[in-house]
Amino acid sequence: MINLTSVDLKKVKTETLVIPVCQDQQIHADATIAALVRIARKLKEFKGEKGDQLSLYNLPDVKTVRIIFMGLGKLEKIDMEVLRATAGKAVREAINKNLTNILIAVPAAAAIKMEIQSVLESMMEGACLGNHLFDKYKKEKKHKPLKNIHLLVSADVVKTYRKLSARIETVCQGTILAREWVSTPPNDKKPEQLTNSIARLARKENLKVTVWGEKELKQKNFGAILAVAAGSRNRPRMIILEHHSKGSSNTIVLVGKGVTFDSGGINLKPAGSLEDMKMDMSGAAAVAATLIAIARLKSKASVVGIMPIVENMPSGDASRPGDIITSYDGKTVEIGNTDAEGRLILIDAMAYGVKKYKPRILIDLATLTGACVVALGEKIAGLFSFDDKLAEAVLLAGAKTHERCWRMPLPDDYKELLKSEFADLNNMSSTRHGGAITAALFLSEFVGKTRWAHIDIAGPAYAKKETAYCGAGGTGFGVRLLCDLLEKL
Ligand code: BES
Ligand code: ZN
Ligand code: ZN
Repeated sequence: MINLTSVDLKKVKTETLVIPVCQDQQIHADATIAALVRIARKLKEFKGEKGDQLSLYNLPDVKTVRIIFMGLGKLEKIDMEVLRATAGKAVREAINKNLTNILIAVPAAAAIKMEIQSVLESMMEGACLGNHLFDKYKKEKKHKPLKNIHLLVSADVVKTYRKLSARIETVCQGTILAREWVSTPPNDKKPEQLTNSIARLARKENLKVTVWGEKELKQKNFGAILAVAAGSRNRPRMIILEHHSKGSSNTIVLVGKGVTFDSGGINLKPAGSLEDMKMDMSGAAAVAATLIAIARLKSKASVVGIMPIVENMPSGDASRPGDIITSYDGKTVEIGNTDAEGRLILIDAMAYGVKKYKPRILIDLATLTGACVVALGEKIAGLFSFDDKLAEAVLLAGAKTHERCWRMPLPDDYKELLKSEFADLNNMSSTRHGGAITAALFLSEFVGKTRWAHIDIAGPAYAKKETAYCGAGGTGFGVRLLCDLLEKL
């Protein structure tokens, strides 16, 4: 629970107060807090540099037991992400100390040259996201999330921004939901289980839910999804979530890659590449969580989420390199590599989305290629679109939420690399190079004239180590970006 509050530290007893401190400027409007900062600064070990931290106890004049000063660094470097990270770290610090409540002093927006709303939003986000622990699979739960997080502001700010925390919490709960799905081990999220989990939560929010099993997938000719699923005893699903609003009849379709475990299939991945492949459904997790979040927010947008859910396994029934399959849209594809399975399930879902909903915009999210991680690293997603306006909107939402995207090219002449001697297309490029681009070009063959953006989240969807406001495992990347974007499209 996150709240804005205004209290007199001299009168009200507080267990823990966190004060963000800037290295080269006084940034708190409240005189009591400014005085506390002066005490901290007198000590050699605390300068307010980024990462600096100091705890002092029972300081005079205030009824606060414990004060944690946290360095923000230089004024010119302070932005939404610095505030998010600071709030997140403050919460994680308090969790590690087994505390239950904290009060975080919010810097004066003018002093850090930011809009008050951005300051509040980013601190709420960092705190809320930092308060999530994924310890379901630990017998002993060493730590507990905080019960209450209060942000200390002036009385008029409490009044004006009373409604802000509900929205931020709903969106962050979406991120947390996606994180939990991604971090869940693959033996506990086989396609049927993951689909049921999504469907159950979606129904609670009154989303329209459609689930198809193998029989329906066969009837409707989802040949590419079935080809990827062929090797696994855990049969595939397709789940569709719909949020329709009276405000808009013009649908936006979101498609998310849902491979609950990607072994590579007959083109089995090597040892070092297998252990985190439970994360290969991060696109589907982000799409499902976004739909649940916007339903809770009663968004004015009309949005449909389409998630093909499969497990990619080798077996005697598995698809082989060299197989030729017929996709939903009718084009044939030679399977050059069974590990390029994401693009196969996506083209069926995308072609269906285009045909059925004739959407205004289609966006797909997928942990699609290792090549994208090589190109952009583990924190930035690859963005592909022919549509400059749409690309700009995605980049902007990514910058605001710090779910960063970088636009990549879609050169027409690279399409040659996807030619097959025998089928309409090969799912594998004829060269090793530019793998994120050729994967995106492959998808582009199935969207017709629809305005489309593809976000390759192979890098940022999963983190081996914890960061300021995210534990190790699924990051929930994409949920905050999409929630922001859908408001603006
Ligand atoms: N799920 C992987 C992509 C991936 C790699 C995600 C690393 C997250 C981290 C995808 O299905 C895959 O295996 N792609 C292949 C494509 C290749 C066979 C053309 C790849 O990137 O190597
Ligand atoms: Zn693969
Ligand atoms: Zn994959």
